[in-house]
Amino acid sequence: MTLPKVYVTRRIQDSGMKLLDGRVEYEVWEEDRPVERSELLRKAAAADGLLATLSDRIDDELLSLCPGLKVVSNYAVGYDNIDVRAATDRGVVVTNTPDVLTAATADIAFTLMLASARRLVEGNEFLRSGEWVTWQPNLLLGADVSGAVLGIYGMGKIGQAVARRARGFDMEILYVNRSPREEAERELGARRVAFEELLARSDFISIHCPLSDETRGLFNESTLRSMKKTAYLINTSRGPVVDQRALYRACSEGWIAGAGLDVFDIEPVPLDEPLLTLKNVTTIPHLGSATVRTRESMARLAVENLLAALEGRRPSAVVNPEVLDGR
Ligand code: GLV
Ligand code: GLV
Repeated sequence: MTLPKVYVTRRIQDSGMKLLDGRVEYEVWEEDRPVERSELLRKAAAADGLLATLSDRIDDELLSLCPGLKVVSNYAVGYDNIDVRAATDRGVVVTNTPDVLTAATADIAFTLMLASARRLVEGNEFLRSGEWVTWQPNLLLGADVSGAVLGIYGMGKIGQAVARRARGFDMEILYVNRSPREEAERELGARRVAFEELLARSDFISIHCPLSDETRGLFNESTLRSMKKTAYLINTSRGPVVDQRALYRACSEGWIAGAGLDVFDIEPVPLDEPLLTLKNVTTIPHLGSATVRTRESMARLAVENLLAALEGRRPSAVVNPEVLDGR
């Protein structure tokens, strides 16, 4: 029996890699940077399955070169790096890693909220640069998270996990979502509002929607100007949901109080990005799911999804089930 051929575009945790042994014939891109496009196209062309990360653009060009490809397993919950429609048209199953990273991502959103409000990074730099000469009644005063109004844009699993944390901080919870989340309303007292109300009333807005045509550039000059001057914007979803130039103006001209960002238009964010010069903007390098346990769970789930699709079983997290249902 010949084993299916798999290309893995980045070495992931051993807990996942070892599940591949004996089940598939696989090759891994071993470098600590994304696989080059030409190499990806060459390897994918001969593969039955791809295990991809969000650094890999899986578009129609790539798919058109891969007649034998059955599955793209994304090591992420977001899949805006994949042209899902093109994959569906070609009968390629796309899978992702939801649920296992919900808590870690909600935690990082909360981390950025607290760090922004309480000026954590500024304080750390202040201390280490020798500026701390005395305790002062007015030193580095920040904003209260406890008791504040939290606006959640996108009330999926991650948004709801953020809301649960917010309950512990006695926050009032507003949310925008296409459909109502009755359980969150009942259990957390969350209230579904129009986007305009979310912008106008929130002390913190945390973004938890996928990147799509609908959400690209959603936080732009007009919407940022509708926020409170004292409010903070937290983004742990995808960079392009926020217009970075408008956000720079918002944070440097005082339209809003500041921002906490885990994601950027271009990643790694270029060091000449103006946002990086602002003290009221806290930035981290796309660490939403970056805990040991979460990444191990993602690795296992991504491999299990891949193997299921290759072995004719139903993967537990399928993005385009119509491919399986149509078979
Ligand atoms: C990370 O950004 C993910 O989508 O899993
Ligand atoms: C999305 O919000 C998820 O956690 O699946």
